[in-house]
Amino acid sequence: MTSKDKQNNYGIHTRLAHDGYNPREYHGFVNPPVVRASTVLFPNAESMVDGSQKYTYGTRGTPTTGALCDAINALEGSEGTVCVPSGLAAVTVPLLAFLNPGDHALFVDSIYNPTRHFADTILKRLGVEVEYYPPHTGADIEKLFKANTKVVFTESPASNTFEVQDIPAIAKTAHTRDIIVMMDNTWATPVYFRALDYGVDISIHAATKYPSGHSDILFGTVSANKRCWPQLLETHGTLGLCVSGDDAYQVLRGMRTMGIRLEHHQKSALTIAEWLENHSAIGEVLHPALPGHPDHALWQRDFKGASGVFSIVLAGKSDEEARKFVNALQIFGLGYSWGGYESLAVVVNINDRTVARKDYGGAIIRLQIGLENPEDLITDLNRGFAALES
Ligand SMILES: Cc1ncc(COP(=O)(O)O)c(C=O)c1O
Repeated sequence: MTSKDKQNNYGIHTRLAHDGYNPREYHGFVNPPVVRASTVLFPNAESMVDGSQKYTYGTRGTPTTGALCDAINALEGSEGTVCVPSGLAAVTVPLLAFLNPGDHALFVDSIYNPTRHFADTILKRLGVEVEYYPPHTGADIEKLFKANTKVVFTESPASNTFEVQDIPAIAKTAHTRDIIVMMDNTWATPVYFRALDYGVDISIHAATKYPSGHSDILFGTVSANKRCWPQLLETHGTLGLCVSGDDAYQVLRGMRTMGIRLEHHQKSALTIAEWLENHSAIGEVLHPALPGHPDHALWQRDFKGASGVFSIVLAGKSDEEARKFVNALQIFGLGYSWGGYESLAVVVNINDRTVARKDYGGAIIRLQIGLENPEDLITDLNRGFAALES
């Protein structure tokens, strides 16, 4: 499939299976070739300068990264996408692309902690004024705007506590002042939230998670609308960022099955979240797809689905007790990241927050629900509850 319009009429699984690459372009092979490249040869000296050749040097893309970026552009509805070596780089590159000394940038307080660290260190060192806002700020974000506000950075749902942001209200307000809206959209993926359709200018993904899907690749993608694409591309090239053909190939390979993996993650995570909601040791289940979640209506309005990561509050328990809980688990691994096929648990710390501090009444554990049988994961979580009582 080649035409964007045509692709957009198909269902999401058809598009995930075919977007980005036409087998006829490479001898009929179903998958694109893995191109490992630095030097690209030109047929003559003229074509080295006249822009007639599509690929010019390894750092500027290959047919493998091109296939991946085309697939992502079709999913995101973006003008262009760049690939970077990690999800964190997908956060830092657009911020470096659009912020200048003297600019003011607003970050949601519930942001992925390394994003906060980048803002508080490198951005501040470069003379950017960094300010945090609470995750439930919608159109009221206007009250925080200054003459020098350049970027509003969002992440929805929130890292670790899963508050949902009113992205359309933020984008509408920001655009009245030409402020750029960026979103770390890793949790939902473009399958469950088409960020650009809701007014976001730059959609950021840690493709390390669901797109790659197997906990063996570090990768980030940044997709921009027409307005922001030229500057994003220019910065990406200027910084000399690129990815290996092997990794790009693996991410595209992962995306072919991402839709059905997400469906399984979603279903198992909800089954387990509902079971946890009724457990006497649980204070709260922080999952926006649960009807009782305070942001459920907002999530339902904007999102097409939920992925498999959420948190639980162990009522009245300390972090030390939460560590006892996770130490007793045998199927859930203890590790960072998420989006792979395997379940993970981590005791989270939200003490970094400054303007949206909240006492959840107990320790918080983040769960990534993998592709295992949910009943086995429930058996495993029961080991954790038993350890709390011992
Ligand atoms: C919301 C979010 N954004 C970005 C990242 C960074 O991704 P990576 O681990 O590929 O640097 C993570 C990693 O956990 C994340 O949770």
